[in-house]
Amino acid sequence: MDNLESAKRSAAAAALELVEEGMNLGLGTGSTARHLVQLLAERVHKTGLHVHCCATSRDTADLARSLGIEIFDLDDLGLLDLAIDGADEIDPRLNLVKGGGAAHFREKLVEKAAKRFAVIADSTKVVSCLGTTRPIPLEILPFAWKTTCRHIEALGAKLTPRISANQELIRTDNGNFIIDGDFGPIPEPAALAERLDGISGLLEHGLFVAMAEIAFVAQPDGKVQVLKI
Ligand code: A5P
Repeated sequence: MDNLESAKRSAAAAALELVEEGMNLGLGTGSTARHLVQLLAERVHKTGLHVHCCATSRDTADLARSLGIEIFDLDDLGLLDLAIDGADEIDPRLNLVKGGGAAHFREKLVEKAAKRFAVIADSTKVVSCLGTTRPIPLEILPFAWKTTCRHIEALGAKLTPRISANQELIRTDNGNFIIDGDFGPIPEPAALAERLDGISGLLEHGLFVAMAEIAFVAQPDGKVQVLKI
């Protein structure tokens, strides 16, 4: 395992310590969350831990099931005790950019249903201001999607649709399009999030404002820094 992967695994291992017997748990998506699912499966099998999990994507559900973790619908679990997920950017107030893996719509639903939301990441994800290293992923309804894009561009964004190898617009797990919006640096993420929330046809954006409570950030030396607001 290379250094970056072992950093991700260290962050996931640190967050896993928050998991307790009987919890309802939301499992994130992406390469860091994969480590979490693998480590959770190991703990379940070694210790007999009982948890009820829901997943933020089909990929995560498939991985968890393949490792023997039962996956429930969020509707059946209701309130979650804890959700743990990766991020593309983390600012000093623990506001996030998410959706690099096109899963941010389900991630936001699951993480808003959790009493606590913990982020796991390597140190490359920490930024002083959101929008400086990554665009904001936008999940857009296919109906009249170009019209929706014009409304978003009017906010000053440069939009790039995600395209598959066979030149088709990529669809999310929900059957919608995924378009990346470059807004430049975003010093006031709450204000931009509110404007994006007001655009019909834009089903969900990847700004996660004031949602995360704690972040486990693995440093290059392998130590895990704990960030809290
Ligand atoms: C999935 O859509 C994303 O929100 C991921 O959680 C985020 O991109 C972090 O992924 P990595 O852990 O692979 O960097």
